[in-house]
Amino acid sequence: MNRSELQKSLALLKYPDIDRTIKELKLLGEVTVNNHVANIELLTVSDESYLSVKKLIEQNYSTKFKALNITKKTLGKKDTNYGDSANPNNRAPYAKNIIAVTSGKGGVGKSTVSVNIAIALAQKGFKVGILDADVYGPNIPRLTNIDTERIKWGDNNKIIPAENYGLKIMSVALTTPKADTPLVWRSSVAVNALIQFLEDVDWGELDFMVIDMPPGTGDVQLTMAQELPISAAVLVTTPQVVATDDVSRAIMMFKDINVPMAGVIENMSFFIAPDTKNRYDIFGTDGGKRIAKKYDIPYLGEIPLDMQIREASDKGEPPVALGEQNTKKYYKDIVNNILDTSEFKL
Ligand SMILES: Nc1ncnc2c1ncn2[C@@H]1O[C@H](COP(=O)(O)OP(=O)(O)OP(=O)(O)O)[C@@H](O)[C@H]1O
Ligand SMILES: [Mg+2]
Repeated sequence: MNRSELQKSLALLKYPDIDRTIKELKLLGEVTVNNHVANIELLTVSDESYLSVKKLIEQNYSTKFKALNITKKTLGKKDTNYGDSANPNNRAPYAKNIIAVTSGKGGVGKSTVSVNIAIALAQKGFKVGILDADVYGPNIPRLTNIDTERIKWGDNNKIIPAENYGLKIMSVALTTPKADTPLVWRSSVAVNALIQFLEDVDWGELDFMVIDMPPGTGDVQLTMAQELPISAAVLVTTPQVVATDDVSRAIMMFKDINVPMAGVIENMSFFIAPDTKNRYDIFGTDGGKRIAKKYDIPYLGEIPLDMQIREASDKGEPPVALGEQNTKKYYKDIVNNILDTSEFKL
C-alpha cells in the first residue's frame, strides 16, 4: 500500500460506535509511507479518542505494513474542528439557551430528569420548551401527560407544540397514529425529523430549550451538536453504570466535539426506606462524584431511587410539579446548580 492508497482507505474508517468516518471528524493528520512503514498522525483532544482510533487502525492495517507508527498531535480546544460542531449552525435562533440531557446508557432516567428539570426552570419563570430527540423511544409525551394529543398545524404553516406544566413540548410520538407506535426509521430520516421540529415548530421565544437525547453517542447527538449551539450538556447516570465505558465514551465525545459539559447527575442514587426513613446506598456511594472528578466536570447532584418518582412519572405527573416537597427539592437543587455552573444568556 502506498501513501495515497493508505490515505484513501483511512478516510473511510468509521469512528467506533459513531456513524461518521475519522475523516469527517477531522481526526486524520499527516500520513506517510516509507519502506513499508506507515506513519499516521491523529489529531485529537483526548487520549481516549486517540486510543480508540489507534486500536481501530492497528486492527485494520497491522498486517499490511512492516510497522505502524501512530502518533498523536494534541490540539488545544480552540484548534479542534470536528466538522461544524466547533462552529455549529443555529437552527433554533428563538432559543437563548439549549440544554442537552444525555447518557451513555439507556434506562438511567434521562427522560424523567429532562422533564423535571425543564419544569423546574419553568417554575423559576423562564420560558421553556422540551424537544424529545429520542426518536426511537420517545417518552416525553407520556411523562408530560400529552400522549393522547396529535400533531396540529397552525395558520402560519407551523406545527403548534403541545403544552403542559408550563412547557412547550414536541416529540415524534405526536406524529404517529398512537403514542406507542414503534418507529423504524433510518437514522438520516430521524435526524431530518428533528431538524424539522427545530425549524417548523412554533416555539415562540424561549429562554431554554431542553433536549432529551437518545442514549449513547450516535448520529443524533453529533447532528444536534452541529446544528445547534448547545449551551450545556448534562449527563445522567446511575451508580450502577457510572464505571462503564459507555459513560466515559459519552463524556469524551461531548468534550471532543466542543459541547460544554455542564456536569453529571446521579439518578437512582440511594434508597430511603418509606417506613424507617433510613438511607441505603444500594449501589455504593459517590460514583457520580468520582466520574465528575475524573473528567473535571461539575457534579450537579443526586436523585434517590423512589417508588413515587416512578409511579407518578408513569402517570404523567412529574414529581417536581405534583410531588412532595422533599422530592421536588432534588430537582430544584440540580437546576440551581446547572444555572450556577454554566454560562447562560439570561
Ligand atoms: N429516581 C427514580 N426513582 C425511581 N424510578 C425512576 C427514577 N428515575 C427514573 N425512574 C424510572 O426508571 C425508568 C427509566 O427512566 P427514563 O425513561 O427516564 O430513562 P431513560 O434514560 O430516558 O431511558 P431510555 O434510554 O429508555 O430513554 C422509568 O420507569 C422511570 O419512571
Ligand atoms: Mg428516555
